[in-house]
Amino acid sequence: MPSDIPSQHKALVLEAVGTDLQVQTLPTPQADTGSVVVRVIAAGVLSYQREVYGGQRTYAFPMPLVGGFSAIARVAAVGPDATVLQPRQLVFVDCFIRARDDPSARYLTAIHEGGSEGSKKLMRDVWRNGTFAEYYKAPLENCIPLDEARLCQGLGYSAEDLMYLCYLLVPFGGFRDIKLEPGETVVVCPATGGFGGAGVQVAVAMGARVIAMGRNEKELARLKEHVKRGTPSASVETVKITGDETADTAALQAFGTIDAVLDLSPPDAINSTHLKSAILALRQGGRCSLMGFAKDFVPIWKVISDDITMKGKLMYSREDMLLFVKMLERGLFPTGTDFVDVKTFALEDWKDAFDEAAEYIGIGRHVMITP
Ligand SMILES: NC(=O)c1ccc[n+]([C@@H]2O[C@H](COP(=O)([O-])OP(=O)(O)OC[C@H]3O[C@@H](n4cnc5c(N)ncnc54)[C@H](OP(=O)(O)O)[C@@H]3O)[C@@H](O)[C@H]2O)c1
Repeated sequence: MPSDIPSQHKALVLEAVGTDLQVQTLPTPQADTGSVVVRVIAAGVLSYQREVYGGQRTYAFPMPLVGGFSAIARVAAVGPDATVLQPRQLVFVDCFIRARDDPSARYLTAIHEGGSEGSKKLMRDVWRNGTFAEYYKAPLENCIPLDEARLCQGLGYSAEDLMYLCYLLVPFGGFRDIKLEPGETVVVCPATGGFGGAGVQVAVAMGARVIAMGRNEKELARLKEHVKRGTPSASVETVKITGDETADTAALQAFGTIDAVLDLSPPDAINSTHLKSAILALRQGGRCSLMGFAKDFVPIWKVISDDITMKGKLMYSREDMLLFVKMLERGLFPTGTDFVDVKTFALEDWKDAFDEAAEYIGIGRHVMITP
């Protein structure tokens, strides 16, 4: 191990669901074939990270584990098979693990072990720990190089700003999956949450017109203002979710042809009618990306009679990540607080970070741990 990497480091460990996490001193992982060890700069916190480790979301994973999500980090050491990555390279570290000999075995490190025997084995035996730590060992292919000179010195993003990628990439995966085109109109619902708000930002950068749906009119107004400030040419409309399926469909259709829908409903919205309204408003041949937890929403005759495509989507591909980073490097997104306004917390303050992440949500907002 290079001499500047300490033999021990601090990490935030969950011993059992529903118990407090603990900052522990652990042996620093070593880079071997197929892996990279990074020094974590910022690790994103999900709005529902507290529910995942508290057991309210009944996500399955082995324990003990170091908590986490994705991260922005600097490469500390590489295994012998690294050909591009080198120590000190700035990287986005993706928490979405795919088995190398079976890409269908997929899961989210430190969050959910996935549904296959392969994904469970991989999380239990190899890639279990997350990024709430000073050092993190990642699969080589999960480290996406970032052009620091262009993004930080050139465009002015901080490493913490770049952590917002973990939100932006999710809707990007959905939009690419349903082939959203520049100039098309897409409904994002609900748009007032973390991933929904990020979806609005991404659709605008992809050249689409956006109709943002949400219950909270104040947040919809903030969203519209945020996008206009960062991208004055953007076309963003808002529609309030009233719970009246027919009225909400009509409110969407008042904006003309709708080509696509992206849904990011949380479990709490399982019975909301917004997704049904959005699908009913689609044009013939329209597409819908299902990334959330809405239930009983399919207006079956509409789907059949208008040739609607409905596609489920988990996260994104490595190709999506590489393309997204190019978009960011080309300057297609706003900068500064028009991009994201972050709140950072030390490892020891994880409880405050989790509480803040549950409240500080919506477009351009992100909470992270900076170990
Ligand atoms: N498929 C994937 O790869 C993937 C990846 C990441 C996340 N997700 C899913 O995306 C979901 C959203 O995550 P998030 O972090 O964006 O959540 P979040 O920040 O907590 O936002 C939740 C959103 O849902 C809205 N909402 C809550 N209850 C509702 C109800 N009863 N009716 C209508 N709208 C309601 C909220 O609106 P208000 O402002 O009105 O409260 C807010 O817009 C997660 O639950 C997760 O499961 C999927």
